[in-house]
Amino acid sequence: MPRVSPYLARCPRRVLLWLTLWAAALADPVKDSAALLQALDSALSQDEATALLAPHMDNLQSLGQQVMEKVVLRQWWDLARDIVAKSHKQQVDLSFAVRSAVRSLKEEADELLRTLNPKYGLAQQVTPAFQWAQNDTSIFLTIKYTVRWNAPGALEVTEPSVNMSGNFFNFSGLGKHSNNKYRYFLSLDLFDNINADVSTWSSASVGRLSVTLRKRWARKWPRLLWEKKAKIANMHVWMEMQEKLDSTLGGMSSVSNSPITCGATNKLYCIGTDTCKKSANCSQCPGKTEPDLEAFLCAGKPSEKASLGFQDTDMDEHQLGGEIKITRARHDFDVDTYSVFWGKDDRNKLEMTDGKEALVGEALSSSLDLQVRLPQSTLIPDGATHLLVFSQNGYGEYSDPGSLVLKDAALPKAKPGGLVFDDEDGEKGAVRGRVTVLRAENEHKISEYSLHWGRSSTRRSSSSSFISDVRKEEGKDVSHWISHQKIPEGATHLLAFSKNEFGEHPAPASVKIVDKTKPCLEKGADDCPSGVQVSVDSDPDPQQLQVKVAITPAKAESSIDAYALFWGKQSCDSGVENAKNGHIRDFKVGESMEADLPVDTLVPDGSTHLLVFARKDGLGESDFCVSVPIEDNREAEKKEL
Ligand SMILES: *[C@@H]1O[C@H](CO)[C@@H](O)[C@H](O)[C@H]1NC(C)=O
Ligand SMILES: *[C@@H]1O[C@H](CO)[C@@H](O)[C@H](O)[C@H]1NC(C)=O
Ligand SMILES: *[C@@H]1O[C@H](CO)[C@@H](O)[C@H](O)[C@H]1NC(C)=O
Ligand SMILES: *[C@@H]1O[C@H](CO)[C@@H](O)[C@H](O)[C@H]1NC(C)=O
Repeated sequence: MPRVSPYLARCPRRVLLWLTLWAAALADPVKDSAALLQALDSALSQDEATALLAPHMDNLQSLGQQVMEKVVLRQWWDLARDIVAKSHKQQVDLSFAVRSAVRSLKEEADELLRTLNPKYGLAQQVTPAFQWAQNDTSIFLTIKYTVRWNAPGALEVTEPSVNMSGNFFNFSGLGKHSNNKYRYFLSLDLFDNINADVSTWSSASVGRLSVTLRKRWARKWPRLLWEKKAKIANMHVWMEMQEKLDSTLGGMSSVSNSPITCGATNKLYCIGTDTCKKSANCSQCPGKTEPDLEAFLCAGKPSEKASLGFQDTDMDEHQLGGEIKITRARHDFDVDTYSVFWGKDDRNKLEMTDGKEALVGEALSSSLDLQVRLPQSTLIPDGATHLLVFSQNGYGEYSDPGSLVLKDAALPKAKPGGLVFDDEDGEKGAVRGRVTVLRAENEHKISEYSLHWGRSSTRRSSSSSFISDVRKEEGKDVSHWISHQKIPEGATHLLAFSKNEFGEHPAPASVKIVDKTKPCLEKGADDCPSGVQVSVDSDPDPQQLQVKVAITPAKAESSIDAYALFWGKQSCDSGVENAKNGHIRDFKVGESMEADLPVDTLVPDGSTHLLVFARKDGLGESDFCVSVPIEDNREAEKKEL
């Protein structure tokens, strides 16, 4: 409890008032300041306000910023200075409220001074500075809220308004800059008509308006305004943008006239010759002989066809789906609609059973992406062989359509009938030989067979599985020769898929790879010959032998067809490479393992050994061998000496 002073103790009414104020001071400052603000509002003088605030002067923190603001706005300067002085001692920051209130007073005062100018308040109408650029289909404008492009201007406008129609573009907006009010107004009387429905504008960027005007006809304009001599002081070509766009214009040359320029001299525009004609002379305008006085145009049906592109993305047979892309006629600007029909040939529309023409869809020439969508699973109508596109406008349809042969994407219906392969390569881990692809039962829609390594009878190896494509031959099996190839890691099968330009039948034919090997892949293995013996040479002549040769067969002979006996230049222990010096004979497994080399058997030069290899027909001779040295009996030579 605060100490109650003797003075207050003697005056009970004052005590009550004091207590009320004191309680208010301690109460929630927000709730309290609302009451206080109201009290200040109705205060008639600075004295009254001073009395109201007196209880709070020692606790300025409890006063809201709004109270401070109010004091300043009521211009009780003595009281305000007093509070600010005290705020420093109490370390309370009231600067925000003070500054904001003073600013608003100052503005009011300035505005009062400005109104001394009799013209003040009337927005001055000015033409804003702007830049323009074009590409084939569009005009790009940037309008800056200032009269000179490089001068600062208003950051934003209120009440922006844009009206477009025919060849007119009008913009207005209100803005403030350097203590002046402006009405920015720009009216452009353009070279040619625009398509207002698809033209856009945005005031999103600071200080400027961005506009994209869509040309009614996609052509390069020679200038922005129809009048050659018309000058707008603050008009500039948007060089930076135009340089970028020029590359997309691809050397397109500018036209010279338009319905607007011709209309100005009451003539009509002839598109084909890009000239103005008297209405009676439209008969001389190629393809457009009907004078249209309202449009200032020698008019007529379109006289050029568009072209079509389509790739069926529906893989079911007899069904189509995907986007039909239309490439517009190059010089025909006056086409409004491109209509796509089913065709019974490359010129004539298919007639449906109800006698109607078979329309697929239409694309408006004004859309940037000319496309007609064929929903997936669209059935091809009976008799339809083509897609046709007709150019149309208000005057009719050009009789000569663009056309495209229908190509129904469908995957092959069947896998190959089978796959046959016999390895003819004796090396382990490698194959060689002819793969035969047996013809598919249903060869419809198959153009080739695709050979792959498989990690199972149905799945391709995960990397580099492709071996080769083999062209289908109607009614025949086809084959591919694999010359010595390492079997990729993990590959266990050869697979063949039926294939065409649209894709592959999902299931392959397969054959398990049997990696055939020749005998005796490792030295001393059970399927290597065990040994070879030779008797003493009984032919006394040098370079001639007469001996008995005996082979000790391999322990396991199932993979051996025969043993091959060779002259050798070295023993098998010294390596087999280049050791052979001539074949002597074979010993078939199951027959005698002994043989006589008769008298006068010539020994090839350099032979020091007899070598024996194991052999498997079709795969070749083993890489390892057994050997025995030969000793040439040269008795006769010595005798001669
Ligand atoms: C011209 O500009 C429009 C609007 O930005 C754009 O859609 C169109 O693709 C442009 N034309 C070319 C040829 O790039
Ligand atoms: C644009 O302004 C001009 C000049 O004020 C006026 O003649 C024309 O009718 C206006 N056009 C549109 C579309 O607002
Ligand atoms: C656009 O048209 C409306 C209605 O006619 C008009 O109030 C407005 O001022 C026009 N704006 C411009 C820029 O011409
Ligand atoms: C109209 O055709 C006539 C006869 O061919 C020709 O003399 C005249 O110059 C043409 N006028 C225009 C404006 O093309």
